[in-house]
Amino acid sequence: MAKYIINGGSKLFGEIEIQGAKNVALPVFASALLTDEQVIIHGCPLIRDAHNMLSMLKSIGSKVKLEGNTVMINCADADSWEMPDSLAKEIRSSIFMLGPVISRFKKAKFTYPGGCEIGTRPIDLHLKGLREMNINVREFSGYIYCETDEIKGAHIHLDYPSVGATENIMMAAIKAKGETIIRNAAREPEIVELQNVINQMGGRVSGAGTSTITIEGVKKLYGLTYHCLSDRIVAGTYMTAVAMTKGNLILRNTKDEHLYSIISKLKEAGANIKIYDDAISIIVKDRIKEMHLIETAPYPGFPTDMQAQMCACCCVSDGTSIVIENVFDNRFKHIAELIRMGANITVKNRVAIVRGVKTLYGTDVIAMDLRGGAGLLMAGLVAEGETIVENIELVERGYEKIDEVLRSLGANIIKSR
Ligand code: UD1
Repeated sequence: MAKYIINGGSKLFGEIEIQGAKNVALPVFASALLTDEQVIIHGCPLIRDAHNMLSMLKSIGSKVKLEGNTVMINCADADSWEMPDSLAKEIRSSIFMLGPVISRFKKAKFTYPGGCEIGTRPIDLHLKGLREMNINVREFSGYIYCETDEIKGAHIHLDYPSVGATENIMMAAIKAKGETIIRNAAREPEIVELQNVINQMGGRVSGAGTSTITIEGVKKLYGLTYHCLSDRIVAGTYMTAVAMTKGNLILRNTKDEHLYSIISKLKEAGANIKIYDDAISIIVKDRIKEMHLIETAPYPGFPTDMQAQMCACCCVSDGTSIVIENVFDNRFKHIAELIRMGANITVKNRVAIVRGVKTLYGTDVIAMDLRGGAGLLMAGLVAEGETIVENIELVERGYEKIDEVLRSLGANIIKSR
């Protein structure tokens, strides 16, 4: 397992281009299965989860080519509806392939993704939606078996606006007979982007970004050339790191409208943030203030994927912040590690009370999940002395060359095996 070694104390200063979004790239890769034509995606994030997803596509017979950050996928020869266990277990996002695989082959066999680092993460909503579309779904011995003679449009109400379930149902429904309506759908920008992509491929989807999405079944989808939307969580992570280190950063290739909830919290903490046509700038001169209440919620609420980084930020703020994690049931694992670095945090169930301290101290910490690991790395950037973050493969699931990016901004960080 590799680790990052960080010597804290450097301010972050400079300009960066934000990578493509993981949570857009993964479902778009999966949607390539819906056509026999070539799908070309520019600006893909070169991260572990993306490579795993592409390996999964290859393992079922698709052709995949990677040139820099451009991915070319052709699924014309895909011939297997069974997802290989080892790859499917590696990333939970393999579940996004379920809808497209059933759409293509009318059957599918997947390993049950089970629990993961941030909680139990059931897939009952995905399966309920598929069942309502005339798909016979059976679960036994850790596998999901799906079969249908014809996918039929349905009216589906999600008990919770799950991102993955909304995307899976959209992809399963696009070649169904008739119309599918998803109510209480997730409203994340990534869902809107998937709608745009499917429509560019010849689909008829409308309503994404609202709670009701309508998918009209079509006979055929076509190839696509697409530039991946930028990653709002990566942008938020770097902005938060700047707030912690009292730095000065210009972010390019990012959309402020997807970042309002994060920008609003950082402004509350005293950051000077300016929005330009093609960039966002953040300048922080003084020690940041507390952020009062950070409560995660589905979009447009505060993103759960930024909770750990904000926790790290609150640790070095002037005052007390309350952080509530409403989306996942086990997403506070970074807190024990932050406490080892000198943070003052009390946790009760899904609520963390973070009292700012003057100094964090470098020590050995372990990344327990992707965003939690990013939070620890950021704490290391401001800690006194040396911080070693272990298990960084988890961080690399979502951040492209994060050590190189931070080094280019002045951080003292190296990667070591
Ligand atoms: C996606 C994102 C992830 C983000 C999350 C919430 C991708 C690849 N991942 O994950 O980065 O943290 O949205 O914004 O896009 N749930 C159920 N049953 C289900 C499905 C979900 O109970 O069938 C629950 C989950 O356990 C969780 C909540 O719903 O408590 C939200 O999960 P969901 O929106 O589905 O997240 P993902 O799509 O897995």
